[in-house]
Amino acid sequence: CIKNSGRTKRERIFIMDGYSLGYANIALVKYWGKKSKDPVLPYNPNISLRLDNLLSKTKIEKSLSNEDEFYINDEKQGPEEVNKMIKFISKFTPVDREKICIKSYNTVPTAAGLSSSSSGTMALVLACNEYFKLNKSTQEMVEIAKEGSGSSCRSFYKLAAWLEDGSVEELSCELDFSMMVLVVNEDRKKISSRVAMEQCVQTSTTFASWVEKAKKDFVLMKEALKEADFEKIGEITESNALAMHETTTTSSPSFTFLTEESHRAMDIVKQLRSQGYRCYFTMDAGPNVKVLYLKEDQDKLYEEISKLWNKKIILCME
Ligand code: DP6
Repeated sequence: CIKNSGRTKRERIFIMDGYSLGYANIALVKYWGKKSKDPVLPYNPNISLRLDNLLSKTKIEKSLSNEDEFYINDEKQGPEEVNKMIKFISKFTPVDREKICIKSYNTVPTAAGLSSSSSGTMALVLACNEYFKLNKSTQEMVEIAKEGSGSSCRSFYKLAAWLEDGSVEELSCELDFSMMVLVVNEDRKKISSRVAMEQCVQTSTTFASWVEKAKKDFVLMKEALKEADFEKIGEITESNALAMHETTTTSSPSFTFLTEESHRAMDIVKQLRSQGYRCYFTMDAGPNVKVLYLKEDQDKLYEEISKLWNKKIILCME
């Protein structure tokens, strides 16, 4: 049974075979710092691209034990993960509900800076909507998702902007983008994006200038998307990611998500660009490097990158 909630052509299938599907998204202008935690509001407006091949699928069933259970990729999660998840869903599910078992599968490596929290949270909100028959609209689910993981509110739209007042807008662009991930490491990150961004807010000496830059980048990015100027989009994407990562090295204690291999991947992208390939990089709360390019260039680019990057590459769009 396939149910398509689609109102517009670009909308994805959100429910398939009893599973709710949540998609990862990667920010072109990053969200990095909460101006307010309740409600969750970003310091700067940000923009993302949804990755339709990186997804989580989630199903809720009645628990057969007398406790709430949570599985990720068939692995039973411990009390800390279960409590975190229950605390979140208790905000919008019935108070006197029966115990549930949540089964979630990620095609995205979990917590490796590949946006598994955005796909996982979106899938969880949709699954609760189905199981508890909450009948929420997309807009209401966007609001709920944000409280679970800020960036997940952008996953409901192909191109999304999350604004400082908390609202989420769908953007459009004529270009057919895609991304591939040069996988450096698929392990769980040592520091979560939530903890890391809070440390940067509190201690980074470049946090204020990061916010200023990100606000400007947001305006420039919106213009570039409207003009369908891929070069401009790519340049803003790269410089925005670098400024975000700078806040980690300027925080106290200083840290970085990036490894030598991340830098090697970034160099490959720059090298290919100097040879005329249209490609740009971005990185999130992990060492993996995502490459932004136009879909029409995928085959050529993949062939060239594969010669230089001998580790795993994930193609993020169909
Ligand atoms: C680097 O959305 O994971 O990916 O709201 O605390 O759950 P919480 O943080 P999260 O942070 C995402 C940070 C980022 C940049 C981005 O996606 O914009």
